[in-house]
Amino acid sequence: QIKGFIFDLDGVIANTSVYHAKAWHQLADKLGVTWTEDLANQLKGVGRMDSLNLILKSGGKENDYTEDEKVKYATEKNDNYLNLLKGLTDKDILPGMKEFIEDLSANNYLISLASSSKNSPKVLQALDLEKYFDARVDPSTLKNGKPDPEIYVRGAEVLNLKPEECIGLEDAVSGIKSVNGAHETSVGIGDPGILNEADINFTDTSQVTLANIKKAMN
Ligand code: G6P
Ligand code: MG
Repeated sequence: QIKGFIFDLDGVIANTSVYHAKAWHQLADKLGVTWTEDLANQLKGVGRMDSLNLILKSGGKENDYTEDEKVKYATEKNDNYLNLLKGLTDKDILPGMKEFIEDLSANNYLISLASSSKNSPKVLQALDLEKYFDARVDPSTLKNGKPDPEIYVRGAEVLNLKPEECIGLEDAVSGIKSVNGAHETSVGIGDPGILNEADINFTDTSQVTLANIKKAMN
């Protein structure tokens, strides 16, 4: 029996994944790494330093920089990302997600956040959604980021629920792998061809409703 919902943030609740991609694209250009759709998909859901390492690897530049230089580039990306976030409001909530979260809350489901982003508290606040969340996993406390299951294992633990009582919602391949590895039910939001490991697929957030999820689970 499902008792809790564990949410990714960027690309699931908020339209912020495009801003992450924009800021990484800008850095990739600066580092002389070709930006592709495939690279963009690989980066989704992946933490800050892991993302930079994937970009460098994609350009065959994984040994070109010291740790200090990498930290400098990651910080630069984050500054650009934060600039793009200026003026973020509840209008940036993806279609139907506010209604879905309100519906979960009204039906007494527990709700936690499993975002890899250190900026997630700021984003949730700008969207005025903090009040719906019973708990949040702090990504800075994790040993391993997505696709490792750790963040979704913790997403259930912080709600005092068993994994099989939880549904994890994701727009990223790395995130779906994390949910599946945690033995929770995975909901993929986006291209079903890319998110083909998800238990349930929706092509966009407007289809994500309790009724549609219940239907898909039967
Ligand atoms: C999310 C996004 C990624 C981002 C990661 C780290 O998972 O989908 O694109 O790289 O968080 O975010 P941060 O804000 O901490 O750099
Ligand atoms: Mg995401």
